[in-house]
Amino acid sequence: MTNKHEKVEKNVGLFFIITILAISVGGLVEITPLFFQKETTQPVENLRPYTALEMEGRDIYIREGCNVCHSQMIRPFRAETERYGHYSVAGEHVWEHPFLWGSKRTGPDLARVGGRYSDDWHRAHLIDPRSVVPESNMPGFPWLEENKLDGNLTAKKLETFNFLTRNRSHKDENGNPIPLYSAEDIKNAKSEVKGKTEMQALIAYLQSLGHALK
Ligand code: HEC
Repeated sequence: MTNKHEKVEKNVGLFFIITILAISVGGLVEITPLFFQKETTQPVENLRPYTALEMEGRDIYIREGCNVCHSQMIRPFRAETERYGHYSVAGEHVWEHPFLWGSKRTGPDLARVGGRYSDDWHRAHLIDPRSVVPESNMPGFPWLEENKLDGNLTAKKLETFNFLTRNRSHKDENGNPIPLYSAEDIKNAKSEVKGKTEMQALIAYLQSLGHALK
């Protein structure tokens, strides 16, 4: 006697189609609501956009592959929150492009490293990690101290972020979106970063991490 179940299991084509259907429905049910939930699409109250210098620092962080060894997402487990602070929430990251959450932790999570060390500590650590953490196996990045920013693309980056975040910015009292960067911010972007070192930019970025929810 054959039953319906057997028919499906013995027919690879049918089994494939039904599996895809099951996964699609499950996926839709789990993922679609996230697009409409306020907590996942709206910035947390104290979130402020990166300054021009922090924005340049963030690009250096990506260029140097810091995110390959460091995650920026604290999971809601006691072992993590005791070590790193409040767990990460989506509303802190709504303006990130691309996200730097990561899952590989050769080094510690950096989601809330802002304010944990002084600028001088970071500088010494980035030039030669073993000068401050003798057992460290993090590579040094001494060239950051020599490379200078020209700021030629900084204004463009801010404009691009205005565009990318246009549906997720803070709103004014009439409900109109407030762009992350004003015309003034964009005009001043170049002069704010020009001549500063990549080290200064990267440290400014690190010090900003986690500011919205301490
Ligand atoms: C090969 C892996 C690796 C890379 C790449 C790497 N790190 Fe690290 N990082 C580590 C390890 C391991 C530690 C822990 C030991 C230490 O403090 O030096 C660490 C520690 C740190 C700390 C101290 C964190 C804390 O809470 O104590 C900071 C800040 C940091 N790294 C920033 C960076 C930045 C910025 C970059 C990119 C320029 C970078 N790291 C690249 C492995 C890495």
